[in-house]
Amino acid sequence: MVNASIFTARGRVNGYPDRHAEGVRRALAERHEVEPERIVLGNGAAELMQAAALALMGAGDELLTPWPSYPLYPLMAARAGATPVPVASAEHVGAAITDRTRLVMLCNPNDPTGSHLRAEQVASIAADLPERVHLIVDEALVHFQDAEELDAVLRLTDALPRFLVVRTFSKIYGLSGLRAGYAVGSTASATVLDAISPVLGVNALTQAAIDQALKIGGPEVERRRIAVLRERARLQKALGGLAVHAIPSQANFVWMRAHSITGDDLASRLRRQGVIVAPGGPLGADDHVRITVRDAPATDRLLSALYNALA
Ligand SMILES: Cc1ncc(COP(=O)(O)O)c(C=O)c1O
Repeated sequence: MVNASIFTARGRVNGYPDRHAEGVRRALAERHEVEPERIVLGNGAAELMQAAALALMGAGDELLTPWPSYPLYPLMAARAGATPVPVASAEHVGAAITDRTRLVMLCNPNDPTGSHLRAEQVASIAADLPERVHLIVDEALVHFQDAEELDAVLRLTDALPRFLVVRTFSKIYGLSGLRAGYAVGSTASATVLDAISPVLGVNALTQAAIDQALKIGGPEVERRRIAVLRERARLQKALGGLAVHAIPSQANFVWMRAHSITGDDLASRLRRQGVIVAPGGPLGADDHVRITVRDAPATDRLLSALYNALA
């Protein structure tokens, strides 16, 4: 159905798209119960976050983020001429604020650890930020959390200024090639929302596909979400019986380390058995691997490869 809407929309590519993406923004506004003016559609969450970094920071400024987290954040800071400042966890954000801090990035649920902050924790971090500091919560993986309402953190945009929530169609919708994401802010964030909106908008094919995905994608999104939650629970329970340490995950992966084996070594032992996991080194911790949660047969294959790898 999404393909069909792209096929139909191809007849419109000889003209500029609606640069304000009125239709998509209206649909998103209804879904999240906010005014359409509080939403910006962009070419992926990554582009919107990079645009925010460029708009909010300059040379000498600092971007604060708990680490390990999504690798784009330090790059975003560097592109803006600013310095990324990693902190050990979200609880350490307040103490790490300096005169140069301009932006705090929270990935929630966090990539690669799967840890999750509840809305009241995000609100309390926001409450402690000085006026010159903006907070962005990257909710690319929000559909995989079952700790609270889907829009619990997004609801904070109703009241908090200098606060944006960013979402994507790349993850649970599986539409990363379309490059579509959006930011939601408060009425007081109008200037930043304006600054990060793509100058000539998002292309017509993407707008048509997203429109359709929002109209008919609900049941499929729910099916994928339930499948991930079920397999994640099964995987985490099974890991509990092995000589590994895995923190509870609210994402579609599990961040795990095995005693006395490096992440690289474990990843190669699993690869030799045909199971691919991401070594943790490039993601921020050498001793970890990130295991993506897939369907039931994949969990079975992973677990049996893991028993062998640890034997
Ligand atoms: C946490 C996180 N944020 C943002 C993105 C990028 O999203 P998009 O494809 O919408 O740019 C990703 C994709 O890998 C991600 O994992």
